[in-house]
Amino acid sequence: MPGRVIAIDGPAASGKSSVSRGVAAKLGFLFVSSGHFYRAFAWGVLRDGISPEQAPGWISGRRLEVRLDASGVSLLLDGEDATPHLSEAATAAMVSPLAAVPAVRDMVNTCLRALAAEHDLVMEGRDIGSVVFPDTPWKFYLDASPEERARRRAREGAVDSVAERDRLDSTRATAPLTIPEGAIVIDTTHLGLDGVISAVLELINAGDVR
Ligand code: CDP
Ligand code: CDP
Repeated sequence: MPGRVIAIDGPAASGKSSVSRGVAAKLGFLFVSSGHFYRAFAWGVLRDGISPEQAPGWISGRRLEVRLDASGVSLLLDGEDATPHLSEAATAAMVSPLAAVPAVRDMVNTCLRALAAEHDLVMEGRDIGSVVFPDTPWKFYLDASPEERARRRAREGAVDSVAERDRLDSTRATAPLTIPEGAIVIDTTHLGLDGVISAVLELINAGDVR
């Protein structure tokens, strides 16, 4: 039987991954960052010295292995662990241009749907409720002001052009960042992490989630 999917979408630094981790831990579901899949491929194109325009031919020859252990999901690209490279500044700068390539999205979506065939998931990203699992009844869209999101990234010490990624993610032709139909929107600008996690869990438990 396919697993249940709780879809959590939103722009960069809206709190998706922290909230999804917390919700998954409470429910005993597997936490999956779909962004990690795009980041793994972004690291791969940098490693192989190719451009996003060359990605459709390149990606068909790639082997992405999804490993599950006690610490969760890790990704191996062509046998190499991508984990240490996912947050690198160069990866962050490459990921949105690469994620606009439909062949890359097709490859990632196949991997994400395969996970849902086996596990209950809390999955976060940009198009999880709109494109990857449009039929799931559990959809959330987290948001926060651009200033607060930039502050959150800066506090993490990350070099990351959040605003530029938002622009590219929201304007691309394929699967742009959007509020999925039926999603519950939570503005997290003035909410702490625990408050958002509790709100999501309450909505799920109350069955208010469409
Ligand atoms: O953590 P943050 O929200 O900053 O980024 P992420 O979730 O790791 O996603 C990195 C990038 O991957 C995003 O800026 C998008 O370009 C792309 N992405 C996407 O296109 N679709 C998804 N479902 C998830 C990520
Ligand atoms: O996954 P996404 O890029 O949407 O955001 P995140 O990586 O979960 O959160 C970015 C940073 O904001 C983390 O350091 C969180 O602890 C922090 N955060 C916060 O201060 N308040 C919230 N309500 C949510 C996240």
